[in-house]
Order: sequence, then C-alpha cells, then structure tokens
Amino acid sequence: MSTNTLVPVLERNQIHASMKERYVDLTKKFEAHFGCKPVFFCRAPGRVNLIGEHIDYCGYSVLPMAIQQDIVMAVCPNQSQQLNLVNTNPTFKSFSTSIRNFTISKEKPEWFNYVLCGLKGIAEFSKLDKPVGLSILTDGTVPKSAGLSSSSALVCCAGLTMMYANDLNISKLELADICAKCEQYIGTEGGGMDQSICFLAEAGKAKHIEFNPLRATDVTLPSAVSFIICNSCTEMNKASTSHFNQRVVEDRLACQIMAKSKNLDWKKVRRLGDLQVSLECSIEGMLELVDNTFKRTPYSKVEVCKLLDVSEQELNASLSDNTLHVQEFKLHDRAKHVFSEASRVIQFKKICNEAQDGCHKLLGDLMNQSHASCRDLYECSCPELDEVTEACRQAGAFGARLTGAGWGGCAVAMVQTSDVPNFIQSVHSKFYSKDAKRESNIDAKLFATVPGRGAVVYKA
Ligand code: GLA
Repeated sequence: MSTNTLVPVLERNQIHASMKERYVDLTKKFEAHFGCKPVFFCRAPGRVNLIGEHIDYCGYSVLPMAIQQDIVMAVCPNQSQQLNLVNTNPTFKSFSTSIRNFTISKEKPEWFNYVLCGLKGIAEFSKLDKPVGLSILTDGTVPKSAGLSSSSALVCCAGLTMMYANDLNISKLELADICAKCEQYIGTEGGGMDQSICFLAEAGKAKHIEFNPLRATDVTLPSAVSFIICNSCTEMNKASTSHFNQRVVEDRLACQIMAKSKNLDWKKVRRLGDLQVSLECSIEGMLELVDNTFKRTPYSKVEVCKLLDVSEQELNASLSDNTLHVQEFKLHDRAKHVFSEASRVIQFKKICNEAQDGCHKLLGDLMNQSHASCRDLYECSCPELDEVTEACRQAGAFGARLTGAGWGGCAVAMVQTSDVPNFIQSVHSKFYSKDAKRESNIDAKLFATVPGRGAVVYKA
C-alpha cells in the first residue's frame, strides 16, 4: 500500500444494501436528538486476531482481520466549539464538553473517554487551534470488553471524525499510528494492532501487520475454512485492571535484563523485538537466551533491582501508576511466550501462502499452541475461555484460541466451512446451553465471520 493512501470517502448510496436501514434509523435518531441532520457518517470496524497475541507492543508482527461488527458515528459539525456525545445504547450515558478543553478519565473508562482519545490525538497531531465543534451520535455493534476491539474502533472512528470534520488529509498509516498512540491516554499501554487493522483492512483479506515501519500485507486464508467467533460470556475491560500493563512491564524488564547481560545500553532497549534486532539473533536463539538467563519462578522487586543495578526508586519511576503495586515479575514465562508466539505468526503466514495439502491441520495446531501459551505462560486466559476453546476442538475445529487481550472476551476457531452448521450446534450444546445467561442472545455470541473492510466515511 502506498504510504499516503487515504480513507475512502463514499456517497451515501454506496452504503451496502443490507446496512441502509441502519443508517436511515441513525439519521432519524440524530434529528430527534440534535434537531438537525447529520452531515456525514464515519464507520470503523472491530477485529479478530487470528494469531499473534500480546506481541505487537514488543515490536512483533500480528495477523488479524476486520469483522463486520463496527462503530458508526453520525456527525454534524457546529461553530460553537461544543462537543456533544450521545450513544444509541441508553445504558451509555451522554457527555458534553468544550472541544478545546477536556480531560480523559483513566479511573473509570466510560465509552466517551475513548472518543475523547481519538479527538485529542488528531487535534494534537494536526496542531488544531480551533477544531470545529461536533455533535455525534454513536452506534456500536462490537460487543464491549469482548476482545474484538470495541475500544479501538471507538478511538479510530473518533479520530476519523475529527479529521474529516476539520478538512484534514491524513493517510491511513498515519491515522493508525496516531490512534494507537492516543488510545494510551486511557492508561493502557497497548500496541498498534487494533488501530492498524481498523484502517488498513480490506474485504476478503486477513492482514499480516508489521511495525516500525507500519505495513500490512495480504494473507490468503485457505479456501473452504471459516473462522467462528465464540464469546466466553466473561467481560474483561483491559483499562480497568492492571493485568495488561503488568505484562507490558514484565516484557520490558525481561528485555532490559537480557540486554544488560549482553552488555548493551539496556536503558535504551525497551522491547523484546528491538533486543532481537540488536543481538542479530534468530528466534530460536532468543528462546535459548530466555532459558539461560531466567529462572522459572517469579522475580521480586529486590531481585529485579539487583539484576539491573538500580534502586527501588528508580525501578518505580519506570512503572505506570497501575503497576507500582506489582511485587512479582514472571520474566521467563512472559518472554518465552512472546518469542514463541512471534515465531507462530511467521509460520502461520508461510503456511497460508504456500497453501499445501494438510495446511488446515498445521494452522489449527498453531492456534492451539498459541492458546496453550497464552494460558500457561502469559496467563491471560480464564476458565471460560479454556472451556469454550476445548468445546470448539471437541466439536471438530482445526484449532481454537483466545483472541484479543484475553482474561475474558472471545475465542476464535478455525472450522471446515461445510461443517459450520454442525460445529455451531455442537459448541452451542457443549458450552452455551449449560447456562441460561450464556444462551441468551446466542447469535451475537457464536457466529461465523469473514474478513471485512476497513474504516470509511459516508457523506450523509
Ligand atoms: C489489545 C491491545 C493490542 C494487543 C492485544 C493483545 O487488544 O490493544 O494492541 O496488544 O490486546 O494481542
């Protein structure tokens, strides 16, 4: 993709026929609420990550695809510099503020804080002194806290809205980069996978996404397989716990301790991927280095300080607010997961591209190994995700794994397309029918998905 490709701006009649009614309905709701018509719509999809979990923030490539579920914002600019945010879901409260001056709450990340992140990111990037005011009605179909990236879809949709409303031209690659950075205003130190696929996705294609510099290459998925999303029915908001940032810190400390042991300027090496580049070492070599450097049991703060030759104060200064309390760091297991998962992504891509007989089983095995590594080494699974992925395997999936940050949310399974109806029925009876709460609204929890298109603007 050329580095300056822009998000497509389409006419209203280019909205897919099956979606037209939703936009008509949104227009009516917008008028009822704001007393005027929306001028444009922005749409940003959620995503499912097929393989490569918790490695984007270490600098390693990932392999996601966009899904049909999305965030749509109906928008009308105003000259009063007022920002009015309303959601079609009545449980998400409305919010109004001046568009020039607002704070983003890290304590209680409500939906509109993600919108604020996207608006602020673009305003800062473009040094907008006087961004136009905006009335925005948001409608989302990505389930929240489900590992399908509803938060990044909100951030990206808001970023795109700010760009279009202020007549700016920012490339998809830049938008992805800005939105990845500005989502961190919420306090989670995520990588760039979600925002990249949101802008760079193309219908019918999964993408291999690499970072530094950001680029996305098509991955041809094997024919006759389908990807099924299975919600574990356990919610997990990564910004409201410290699990996520704790893993980021553990990876960084593992990286810096190995860098120091190899006499590198360790303060400058913060990501395991950069360490590998500096050492000019293979992934196998990095896995060996992990085994030779770390004991299997957790490290205390005192031990980490000793290895890095820093005071506890210095160590604390490098931690985020929500990881200051962490007393134990599992350096061996976290680093082992990162390097092995990075290797699985490369193998997955290679197998897809070679498309040989028997590739389904090989891809499924990689997905199963990825789940086991997330569960045992990275400890980002949960009993329900383990249960639903096992139900998928028993129901005949080639492979199944948690997707997204984990600790709850969704799994993804790879299934023979001709087998999808039987598979869905079988997982339904093995996992969902056990519990009325799991079973309610089942079609939104257990469904087949195909690679969807990336973000887009529609004129109203
Ligand atoms: C979240 C983050 C991503 C990525 C995944 C885990 O979705 O936003 O950057 O780290 O978790 O793979």
